[in-house]
Amino acid sequence: MKPANSPLGQPLNRVDGPLKVTGQAHYAGEFDVPGLLYGSVVNSSIARGRIISIDASAAEAVPGVTLVLTHQNRPPIASYDDPYEDDDAADGSPFRPLFNDRILYSGQPIALVVAENLELARYAGSLVRVEYERESHHTDLLSELETMHKAPADLPEPRGDVDSALASAQFKVDVQYTTPVEHHNPMEPHASTVHYFPEGNLEIYDKTQGVQNCMRYLEGVFDMEGKIRILSPFVGGAFGSGLRPQYQLTLAVMAALKLKRSVRVTLKRQQMFTFGYRPRTVQRLSIGANASGELQAITHQAIGQTSRFEDFTEHEVEWSGMLYKCPNARLDYQLVPLDVYTPLDMRAPGATIGVYALESAMDELAYAANIDPLQLRLTNYSERNANEDKPYSSKELRQCYEQGAERFGWSRRSMAPRSMRDGNQLIGWGMATGVWEAMQMPAAAKACLEPDGRLVVSSATSDIGTGTYTVMTQIAAAAMGLPMEQVEFRLGDSNLSQAPLEGGSFTVSSVGTAVQQACEGLQAKLLDAAQQAPVSPFTGAKLEDVEFVDGQMRLRASPEHWVELAEIIAANGVIEAEVSAKPGEKRSEYSISTHSAIFVEVRVDESLGTVKVSRVVSAVAAGRVVNPKTAGNQITGGVVWGIGQALHEETMIDHNLGRYMNHNLSEYHVPINADINDIDVFFVEEKDEIVNALGSKGVGEIGIVGVAAAVGNAIYHATGKRVRDLPITLDKVL
Ligand code: MOS
Repeated sequence: MKPANSPLGQPLNRVDGPLKVTGQAHYAGEFDVPGLLYGSVVNSSIARGRIISIDASAAEAVPGVTLVLTHQNRPPIASYDDPYEDDDAADGSPFRPLFNDRILYSGQPIALVVAENLELARYAGSLVRVEYERESHHTDLLSELETMHKAPADLPEPRGDVDSALASAQFKVDVQYTTPVEHHNPMEPHASTVHYFPEGNLEIYDKTQGVQNCMRYLEGVFDMEGKIRILSPFVGGAFGSGLRPQYQLTLAVMAALKLKRSVRVTLKRQQMFTFGYRPRTVQRLSIGANASGELQAITHQAIGQTSRFEDFTEHEVEWSGMLYKCPNARLDYQLVPLDVYTPLDMRAPGATIGVYALESAMDELAYAANIDPLQLRLTNYSERNANEDKPYSSKELRQCYEQGAERFGWSRRSMAPRSMRDGNQLIGWGMATGVWEAMQMPAAAKACLEPDGRLVVSSATSDIGTGTYTVMTQIAAAAMGLPMEQVEFRLGDSNLSQAPLEGGSFTVSSVGTAVQQACEGLQAKLLDAAQQAPVSPFTGAKLEDVEFVDGQMRLRASPEHWVELAEIIAANGVIEAEVSAKPGEKRSEYSISTHSAIFVEVRVDESLGTVKVSRVVSAVAAGRVVNPKTAGNQITGGVVWGIGQALHEETMIDHNLGRYMNHNLSEYHVPINADINDIDVFFVEEKDEIVNALGSKGVGEIGIVGVAAAVGNAIYHATGKRVRDLPITLDKVL
């Protein structure tokens, strides 16, 4: 049993908060390195074709410019002729910066100008003259649908007889939804600071969600095994944009190797639109239900865009085969290659898009069948994941529905559209379900008890603002019975113990489990060390006979027998344990997911069509929550992003140029404070003994899933207008 004062489950402030708010937290583009040079990237202005010539003479003539790097003078690269992969690579051949003269997309990096300072580098970049041979390009998903091919997704086989079940269903919807390209836009743009050491080793500060992924990638590309260390102690938001090594990293390393100097490359905000993004999609759903609203059949087809060099694939349609009880189901997922960069995971990749469509269609079915939308979900509640034919390890979604509805006041809703109004404002209440997988990856951690009594725990994971520093400190402090102040967690260094990418909502599950097990390993060593003393009350005791409380190890049966951990260290020296943790075997017999229920109130101005999301309740079931404050913050952030997905976010492309037009934060709209009102987030109690020893599922993604559907459903309820094309801007509402 955990003692009453355990930090586990406490809403503690972020341990790295003071560093962040006092400017002591340093980001990839801020580290001081002696003799640093600055790189600025020149990007292609055409979407497809070939570079005929690059005239860099004017740029090179600028005093202070040290190099204009292009495909013609880049250093040789070990693996450029073979496709290489990174931990988040899609099927295909990853983009290779400065590989050759081919232009694969508008915005492709084609040169790096390196100078004594950033301003000079940018200015000189404007002097680089490029002559292209243009080829016709295709960037419009909707006009290229006939070129689609099956996505390399591991979809469940169709089950049952979908077509006849649909044909005989009492109520039916057959609807199509479209979603736009969205770009991540974290506050911190991508940056890499490469510290070059005379013997040829590189220490690189990079904005990344995976220090070891970047290390392995560079080791392979530049044939530099054992010579690269990646550091990323703080990351100013990433949301998936830091999962893969980005081109500024490759370019900075090329320049450093060529010049034998330290080089920093920082991307401008506009250049944040020159790599990964959430893909544009078209989705078609058919759902049939019987007279009582029980689902009889469901089909869900998604068509997403990808690049010509990789098949970006995410979980877009699986949700429709598992979220509700339905005997007949058919899922299909196609890709359309275009002359664009490869899409990239963005918060709750796939589910954000697929569950939007599913939960919108469920609302449409509720109206077709005249059944309350929440009641329709309860009628079709499923205790098993029919895609995998497995029970859930835990699923308290019913509690999310019930408690969320209660807090929101759902029972006071009137069903008919346009039936709730406040003066000139049409009021709409909508709801949706959210779902995400609760994955676990192999991960390692090291726990070290130092002579001053401090516990230092470490693993090569990252903290993108999600609270990794804090929750890992809590897990370790709880395991060792130490106060939070005496525990330090280190991350963001490729030299630390193996960790997976920080993504997929699996960091607490994976790294947290490793931290817990490393502490248990440390406990065993402490007990062993204490038993070495000539006279020890612990002689013969096993690990389960002792407990770790208040900086002491005690015999459970006779707590008057104790020893200070610091005493053991004083007698034995530093004690440490490193453990590799794997997902538990029992996991494979279950489907393991997080769930949520989202309730939204909108107020639509009847004359102007403006939509205000006035209230949101998000009820989340994610197993044991290690820190309700940091976890709650993540859900709130996800809800805000979901509001952005519903109402604001869209990267628009000029298909004539094949180029994004609103590649800046003044025209790429995201919700601002004035758009955000009351967001009520809470976690329902959910016990899960399968997911991992902590019982925690992770909450990074679930907050956004379903939000856009709930907003769209609320807008329908307010106005009677069903907008099936995101974002729902006022021109579509009016
Ligand atoms: Mo998350 S999109 O795996 O950072």
